[in-house]
Amino acid sequence: MTGAASSAVNLGGRSLTRIGLGTNRLTERAEHVAFVKDAVAAGIELVDTAHVYADGESERTLGTALSEGEDDVLVATKGGYGDGRPDVIASQIEESLRRLQTDAIGLYYLHKVDGDVPIEESVGAIKEQQERGRVRHVGVSNVSLEQLERARKVASIEAVQNHYNLSERGSDDVIDHCAEQGIVFVPYFPLRAGGGAGVREIADRRGATPAQVVLAWLLRRSPTMLPIPGTLSADHVRENLGALALELSEDEVASLR
Ligand SMILES: NC(=O)c1ccc[n+]([C@@H]2O[C@H](COP(=O)([O-])OP(=O)(O)OC[C@H]3O[C@@H](n4cnc5c(N)ncnc54)[C@H](OP(=O)(O)O)[C@@H]3O)[C@@H](O)[C@H]2O)c1
Repeated sequence: MTGAASSAVNLGGRSLTRIGLGTNRLTERAEHVAFVKDAVAAGIELVDTAHVYADGESERTLGTALSEGEDDVLVATKGGYGDGRPDVIASQIEESLRRLQTDAIGLYYLHKVDGDVPIEESVGAIKEQQERGRVRHVGVSNVSLEQLERARKVASIEAVQNHYNLSERGSDDVIDHCAEQGIVFVPYFPLRAGGGAGVREIADRRGATPAQVVLAWLLRRSPTMLPIPGTLSADHVRENLGALALELSEDEVASLR
């Protein structure tokens, strides 16, 4: 159930700090560009966006903030939300490359399986772009274990992104499988967790914040877990990174079960 707490995880051969940044509310304002640069300076190494976020403004803002490339940050984006046809995904990848001002996307997820298109075809479109050098690593999002295994027959899947937190545990089987296979599991909505008095009590006792306790629980749940709390606050970025130093005891984990 639990894994040793290490502050880094391996994604396709590169080491990443196990707290990333979700950016679905990022818009093209100077203060948001500055915020992204500050988050990377604070230690964020994985930034999560998608073709659909803020009508493309999230990707464009990241392009402006990170295009100079001196920072060692992996930008993950996603496509195929609502339409997983290969030609749609191919054109969304072209658009994401332009918006992100890059020649290659670090990690590209199929955002959601299209009920009318077999996952093999959607992932195959991403794999084709990987073979052309335009996508470095491939991921899948909102998948069951069965869908993950089908995707893995088409491409090497380095990351899975599903809804998971203290109160939403539907992906337990996927998480255990990812840990066994060395696949990074990226829980979205990591902070939308209940936990109530139990979380607050641990936070007070450990001199931490409730957000740090909830993140520390996720980090402990699996050694390949890499949460991406969404924030527009530089203080919250630092607070969330601070969860890496909070190791929960067995008793604390049991009390949150
Ligand atoms: N694959 C998918 O289908 C999918 C779906 C949804 C989301 N996502 C991704 O997952 C990311 C995370 O999801 P989310 O941002 O919706 O939910 P979340 O990370 O669970 O929660 C974000 C909320 O928590 C607040 N927050 C962040 N750090 C905090 C802290 N230390 N203390 C108190 N409040 C804090 C944020 O407000 P402040 O701005 O005030 O910090 C924001 O209101 C998204 O940004 C997106 O990249 C993926």
